[in-house]
Amino acid sequence: MNLDEAIFGRRSVRKFTDRYVTDEEIRAMIEAARWAPSWANTQVWEFIVVRDRALMEKIAGTYVEKNPATRATLSASALIVACARDGVSGCYDGKDVTSIQKWYMFDLGMAVENLCLKAHAMGLGTVVAGYMDHQACKKILEVPAGYEVVAVLPVGEPLTPAKSGPPRKELSSFLHLDAFGKVF
Ligand SMILES: Cc1cc2nc3c(=O)[nH]c(=O)nc-3n(C[C@H](O)[C@H](O)[C@H](O)COP(=O)(O)O)c2cc1C
Repeated sequence: MNLDEAIFGRRSVRKFTDRYVTDEEIRAMIEAARWAPSWANTQVWEFIVVRDRALMEKIAGTYVEKNPATRATLSASALIVACARDGVSGCYDGKDVTSIQKWYMFDLGMAVENLCLKAHAMGLGTVVAGYMDHQACKKILEVPAGYEVVAVLPVGEPLTPAKSGPPRKELSSFLHLDAFGKVF
């Protein structure tokens, strides 16, 4: 699969077959995440793979009611929980060095997109689930202080071929030249 096919063909997948996603496939996805850029190469991401069905149900239980990713979470072959260490990315000596904080969110986002694209290139599907009670999920997975659970990624083989996906904003609505608001 070439880059354009990966970028433009990837969709959030919320319905899976019962095909087992192997540990090797999961490692390949994490390997793609591993090569994402990060602040000063700090690589503060942590990934927890969950296969235990009871644990998966508990994690789905931390989602807000009617989260569209709930069914995907319950029927996924595995969950990959994307976490990050706080206080390192964008920080020196534990202090923020820019007015923008929580750079780990940026780093993790890049890593997770790599992961999702790799899954797609392998014929697998993912969806990012972030609308949840993060503190409750952190507790369930015994994530220590200083680390945050950011998103859950259910992984599986898509039940149906990818559709065109929700529309995107027009380029002209967010692309600027020389200054914000000037037309490119
Ligand atoms: C940070 C983030 C959080 C998201 N949280 C959820 C979620 O909680 N539940 C869900 O069903 N989809 C969630 N999504 C998926 C988006 O709804 C989806 O990416 C968007 O609608 C575009 O569709 P596409 O991924 O098929 O292109 C999330 C995506 C991102 C990037």
